[in-house]
Amino acid sequence: MRVRTRPIEGQKPGTSGLRKKTKVFMSEGYLENFVQSVFDATGGAEGKTYVVGGDGRHFNDHAVQVILKMAAANGARRVIVGRGGFLSTPAASHLIRLHRTDGGLILSASHNPGGPDADFGIKFNTANGGPAPEALTEAIHARTLEIDAYHIADEADVEIDRIGEQHIGGMQVSVIDPVADYAALMETIFDFPKIRALFSGGFRMRFDAMCAITGPYAVEILEHRLGAPPGTVVNATPLPDFGGLHPDPNPTWAKVLMDEMMGPDAPDFGAASDGDGDRNMVVGRGIYIAPSDSLAVLAANARLAPGYGGGLRGVARSMPTSTAADRVAAVLGIGSYETPTGWKFFGNLLDSGRVTLCGEESFGTGSDHVREKDGLWAVLLWLNILAERKETVREIMSDHWRRFGRNYYSRHDYEALPANLANRIMEGLRARLPTLPGQCLEGMTVSAADDFAYADPVDGSMSRGQGLRVVFSDGSRIVLRLSGTGTEGATLRLYLERYVAGPDGLDAEVQAALAPVIRTAEALAAIRAITGRPGPDVVT
Ligand code: G1P
Ligand code: ZN
Repeated sequence: MRVRTRPIEGQKPGTSGLRKKTKVFMSEGYLENFVQSVFDATGGAEGKTYVVGGDGRHFNDHAVQVILKMAAANGARRVIVGRGGFLSTPAASHLIRLHRTDGGLILSASHNPGGPDADFGIKFNTANGGPAPEALTEAIHARTLEIDAYHIADEADVEIDRIGEQHIGGMQVSVIDPVADYAALMETIFDFPKIRALFSGGFRMRFDAMCAITGPYAVEILEHRLGAPPGTVVNATPLPDFGGLHPDPNPTWAKVLMDEMMGPDAPDFGAASDGDGDRNMVVGRGIYIAPSDSLAVLAANARLAPGYGGGLRGVARSMPTSTAADRVAAVLGIGSYETPTGWKFFGNLLDSGRVTLCGEESFGTGSDHVREKDGLWAVLLWLNILAERKETVREIMSDHWRRFGRNYYSRHDYEALPANLANRIMEGLRARLPTLPGQCLEGMTVSAADDFAYADPVDGSMSRGQGLRVVFSDGSRIVLRLSGTGTEGATLRLYLERYVAGPDGLDAEVQAALAPVIRTAEALAAIRAITGRPGPDVVT
């Protein structure tokens, strides 16, 4: 059935797909226009195969049905869908690769809250399993501005709760167990018997699935296959509104877990993951691990896991992520890469074999096993390392800082700002950048200041305007950029970093260690002065 439609403004994918208020997605033709534009911008769906699934948030089930019917009407050959319409983002990436499909549509607004009054999102991943690169998201957006019709099959809903083969018209729909293939992949990477022995030796863990998609994956892998005691995974049932929680694994939103890990009878290891399962936070007993540090520790110890026993090819991090991983790469004698924010920029580096591990300060870590960041994978790599080293998380961190020095790091978010104020702050700092090199601020000398532009080393594509950065000769850095995932007003992210080589000063409180950098940032960008806010809304 061909349905006439009109272009809808604002269907421009951001850092990670198209994210809007759920009600916007529920408005007439909104989802349909975007999905048709994805098909149109990728040469049509005729004869193609796709993976479809999402994090189960409100509207997920309906959206899955719409996509299945649209894929059928556009001539697709087969769609693989997770039972109930569920797939974590890394599991979807794996399935795209495993079945060599032409791509996949993932329904999620990641760590943004879900529900009729919260957020929804959709993302197209290409045949390598990774998020569509910028050139493609731009083509999709361009198509949304000229679309005049979409195709949808006038058929009954598919029974997505029943595993097995079904058909819509001539298109095959394969409903599969969302967990099985992913769990099997993890078994090929990690030493499950060794981790099992860790648990049977009394090692205690708490995994907070935040009422989101990783619950079933974590229960199957941690409790069923690795023998962690039942109840190790909490908030394990995915709910359409995440139980009213904010499914973002950071110290602010995973506060219950943080309190337990900092408390008197804390487990040995704690972890949480986000709405769609690609983010992770890891915590030791009494010690929080900053994501940038986690990436560095994983890079330094990855060879302890069988999947990385041959060593790493290289490491990549997003520009705002601390440079801790670069120090590890230098010692290991492997390449290190600095990319713009967003997982899509790692795709070419992974595909071309330049890097094995990548990470972002925003609680994202992953490797070449899929083309998305992967929350549970990071937790399993930590467990594998803990099982091999037989040390506590705190001992591993102290040892790491003694060897490599410590990159104190924090991100300060100013959320839901009026766009004009956020732009004024960005423009103000941008205008000052050329004058900064050579200046001495708080005893630190500016060695470089620019608006980060990235030339992809594989295909040469350029991405400009990726964040303002001020770099100091002692390794300190200030980075300022606007979020590309928010759905309300503008969110300003201020990233702060200070390097201490040691052996003294490795155990300071993070915000205190960063105080001179924080003061310098305010002197340069005047965020508090311009917004009138007393401080950031979220500190990670
Ligand atoms: C945020 C994070 C970024 C991550 C993205 C998707 O994007 O900062 O690192 O890749 O979410 O999870 P932002 O809102 O900063 O554009
Ligand atoms: Zn996510």
